[in-house]
Parts: sequence; C-alpha cells; structure tokens
Amino acid sequence: MAALTLDTIEIVNPDLYVQRGYPHEEWALLRREAPVHYYQRPEVDPFWAITRHADIVNVSRQPGLFKSIQQLFVTMNQPGLPPPDEAILRQLLNMNPPEHAAYRGVVNRRFTPRSVQQLTAGIERITTEVLDALVGHDECDFVTAVSATLPLAVIAEMFGIPQADWPLMFRLSNEMIGPTDPEYAGNETVTATLERARMEFFQYFNGLVEDRRKSPRDDLSSALANGLVNGEPLPIFELMSYFALLIIAGNETTRNATTGGLHAFINNPDQWQMLKRDPAMVPKAVEEIVRWTSPVIQFTRKATADTELGGHKIREGDMLALFYPSANRDESVFAAPNHFDITRYPNQHIAFGIGEHFCLGANLARLELQVMFRHLAQRLESVELAGPVQRMRSCFVGGIKHMPVRLRVLPRK
Ligand code: HEM
Repeated sequence: MAALTLDTIEIVNPDLYVQRGYPHEEWALLRREAPVHYYQRPEVDPFWAITRHADIVNVSRQPGLFKSIQQLFVTMNQPGLPPPDEAILRQLLNMNPPEHAAYRGVVNRRFTPRSVQQLTAGIERITTEVLDALVGHDECDFVTAVSATLPLAVIAEMFGIPQADWPLMFRLSNEMIGPTDPEYAGNETVTATLERARMEFFQYFNGLVEDRRKSPRDDLSSALANGLVNGEPLPIFELMSYFALLIIAGNETTRNATTGGLHAFINNPDQWQMLKRDPAMVPKAVEEIVRWTSPVIQFTRKATADTELGGHKIREGDMLALFYPSANRDESVFAAPNHFDITRYPNQHIAFGIGEHFCLGANLARLELQVMFRHLAQRLESVELAGPVQRMRSCFVGGIKHMPVRLRVLPRK
C-alpha cells in the first residue's frame, strides 16, 4: 500500500469503512502530524478533523462556542442524500443550552445508575433466553442471533412496546441510522428511506402517545407523552423525535460493541481465557470493549465565533468533526493503544462522548454489555469465525452487520 499522506487520506468515505473497517492508520497519522486538520476534498464540504483526545474533550466541554447542529456527521456528498441542515428529527443531539438541558430533564432520571440497576433482572432474563435459543446449534450469525436482540428488547420493554412490534422497531431503526447501506435502504434513495422510516415511526409512536395520555403507565412512553418542558407538553415533532432518538441511539451502538467485543476476543484468545477464568473482570473488560470498538465514529460541531484550537484559527461557521475512535487510540492517553487489554485501568475512553451531550444511555449500555459478556464467558464453550465479517456502509456509526460464527453454547445451569 502507498504511504499515507495528509493530502490523500480518506476518512469519511463510507465504502472504505465496508472494505477495511475503521481508518486507524489514517487517524494515527492525523494525531501525529495534524491533530486539528482542515480536511478538503472535492466531494466533501470542508471541515476540521479533530482526532486527539484532549481536543475532543476541549471542544465538547464548550457547547456555547462549538454548538450542536442538525447535521450530525460529515460524509461524502452523494446523490440522494438529504440537505445537511434538513431537520429529519429535532432531538437532544441537535439541541443547545439552555433548551438542551430542559429536554434532557424529561427522561434523565430513568437513565441514572440507580434506575438502570432496576432493569437488571429483565436484562438477565432476555440474555438467558437469547443464549438458550443457540443451545444445540453449531453456527449462527452472531449479530442477528445475539448482539442485535438485547438492546432492542431492553429499550422496547422500557417503552412498553409489545414484543410483536419489535421486528418493526428493528427494521425502522436500521433504516434511520444506516440509510447509506444498501442492505437497509433497498432500492430507495437515502432521503426516501429516511422519510419513509420516519413516517412509519411517527405513526407508530402517535398511537403510543394517545394511549399513554389516556391511561398512563410506569414506562418511558408515558414519561414522554405526559412530560413537560418549561411547564408545557412537548410539541409533536419534538415528541416524536424523542421517541425515535431513544429507540435508535442505543441499538446500533450497543449491538456493535457486543459484536466487536466478541470479535476482539476471538482475535485475542488469551484475553478470552482470562475473562472466562475470572468473571470479576467483566466491568473492566466492558470498558475496554467500548474503547476498542468505539461504535460512534463521529459527531459534528459548528463554531459560533472565531477562535483558536491547536494553534489553528477556526472561523465562525466552520464545521468540526470529532472522531471518537481516534481519541480512544491516542498514544498520549493510552499505553499500547492498539492492544486489546481487558486489564486496562484507568480507561479514560470517550466512546460515550463527554460534556453537555454525554451519552444518556451510557449506564444502560454498560449494564447490558456486562450482563451479556458475563453470560457469554460462562456459557460460550467455544467460538470461532465461520466466514468473513460484513461491515456497515456508514462513517457515522460503524461496525459489523453480520458475523458468521461456529460456536458451542452450554445449556443454562
Ligand atoms: C455502546 C453503546 C453506546 C455508545 C458508544 C454511545 C455513544 C454516544 C455518543 C458518542 C453520544 C454523543 C456525545 C456527544 O455528542 O458529545 C451519545 C449520545 C446519546 N446517547 Fe448514546 N451510546 C451508546 C448507547 C446508548 C443507549 C443504550 C442509549 C439509550 C437508550 C443511548 C442514548 C443516547 C442519547 C439519548 C444521546 C444524546 C444525549 C444528548 O445529546 O444529550 N446511547 N451516545
């Protein structure tokens, strides 16, 4: 392969994510030579690529100077993409202070460590059932059989969505987050996929809202349907967007951490054996899995005033993209960053972001991953790849769409 140069590297071409996975070598070059880099290519609207841990933390902690916008991520201009500032949804990720905190307050308390802890028994039950279904099978697609099921089932239960509708939620959230992937978009354009999926989602949630306004229950749907922002019910577009955000945000991300985590263990059998021997390692292992997989590739920010970052003049209106997986391999923060090491401590990854928009679902994701990997360590007697992994065509949320494995799952004790 030709030597990488700053002028030729590609970091937002979704096809390269399918072919090669994350561009870790490109990010390493950027961190070394141009950590705050003005990225200009004919097919991309120019933006500052921010690749070091410290700079991403710095930008994320100044939501007034670097505001969140409609366009959540940077990609190549392709036919069929919606205009970048079109409001597909209006939700927390696009909001700024003080509105942002007022909206976040509507469901915040349902995602605290204590509230999430109460979901443990349900998460244990779903995980047990997912693995029970694999007993006696010697091959499966780990993504559809295991990784995708748990996060979707958990959030759907939190919303009080009946099990018969979970496949619908699964399809619609794939289409909303991966419309640039042909498997999810089918024959439609990206815009058409987004539009249709959004309409289907909104129709469905509308029904839930009507029901929970008439007869509230103790679930997330009721909290949103009857929630207040500054003393007023949420406007309908913001309300529908909130439902969609919570359904979508946790699915693809937690799924890819699960799949990528097992993939990392398959490639590092010593780490797998260590986890199997000592289940007390699970919390640390999960932090390392989240650092290693970093399922969110980037979020954007826009400068609201002229300023300076890493010795560069940033102008008002300039776009920035924060590359979390790069920050999580930053050699100035992590010793041997390219080693998957479940004993790593401290592990100051920022895969969940940091500051104003820190992931609302981080406690939930951590718990789901901990339960899943504890069960896998106990019941997965053997596992190996049975074919090549297929990666998602996206430079926003990255990961593995399919991972065929040969495995042996022990019956539950
Ligand atoms: C491993 C799994 C996950 C990862 C890696 C992840 C990552 C992230 C990141 C990087 C951000 C944005 C940070 C920023 O812009 O500064 C974020 C925000 C968010 N995440 Fe997650 N997430 C995960 C799981 C979840 C789950 C399970 C849920 C909920 C069910 C969730 C809900 C949200 C929400 C609502 C926001 C927006 C918060 C805000 O703007 O205030 N996430 N997440």
